[in-house]
Amino acid sequence: MSPSADIPDAVVDIRNVRRAFGDRPVLDGIDLQLRSGEFVALLGPSGTGKTTLLRILAGLDSADSGRVVVPRARSVVFQEPRLVPSRRVWRNVVLGGHSPRKLRSRADAALSEVGLSNHGSAWPVTLSGGEAQRVALARALVTEPGLLLLDEPFAALDALTRIKMQDLVAELVELHRPAVVLVTHDVDEAILLADRILVLNNGSVELDVPVDIDKPRPRTDPRFLELRALLLDQLGVVDSVTNPH
Ligand SMILES: Nc1ncnc2c1ncn2[C@@H]1O[C@H](COP(=O)(O)OP(=O)(O)O)[C@@H](O)[C@H]1O
Ligand SMILES: [Mg+2]
Repeated sequence: MSPSADIPDAVVDIRNVRRAFGDRPVLDGIDLQLRSGEFVALLGPSGTGKTTLLRILAGLDSADSGRVVVPRARSVVFQEPRLVPSRRVWRNVVLGGHSPRKLRSRADAALSEVGLSNHGSAWPVTLSGGEAQRVALARALVTEPGLLLLDEPFAALDALTRIKMQDLVAELVELHRPAVVLVTHDVDEAILLADRILVLNNGSVELDVPVDIDKPRPRTDPRFLELRALLLDQLGVVDSVTNPH
């Protein structure tokens, strides 16, 4: 599918988005449409504008030109959990606007979804890196976003925690069904989680491929290997698994 093809029920619709820093164009005419509940992974070399695109989708930065249509409710999870250390865990999950008792029960429900039911009263400093990132995920989902933006959310975690977090994200996305944009450097992670994978390079979307593999997706599936080889090739990486020589 061409990235600019019309999707009638798109909840994210960006057209010809451009963003330059000084005289350097970083995003050079990006088109992207996402359906409700669609999970897109965004790959690309460092410095290619992935975070810039995510920040524009989040409303944290503006495009210089082009059209940006996004759902009103959006959440972002960054590589670091960004918890407020002076607030207890549950207070990091919910913002004001309701009675304290109601807030606490919403926070506890969200914390239970990420497996942290007993940590609501704890201070952020007492959490492990993986737990803190799960709090960030609870905080992102408690608002029921139409668009969930994940900027390398597992990059700082150890390998085992990372696998658990990938499973958790898959489960929670299945439950809440936001549209998702996941920025990652990990090709396998992209194939495991996404419905569609985009490769961003030199300011534009160089590749846009659907992941047409039934879930769960064994890494040994021939289509998995084929897609991995295609993506690594596109990223200019030699794949030692499929090309041992
Ligand atoms: N606020 C900014 N001011 C100036 N340059 C920026 C700013 N944000 C990002 N850049 C530059 O834009 C390019 C893309 O950055 P970024 O979107 O963070 O890339 P990625 O997330 O793909 O690694 C980089 O060269 C970066 O230095
Ligand atoms: Mg980045």
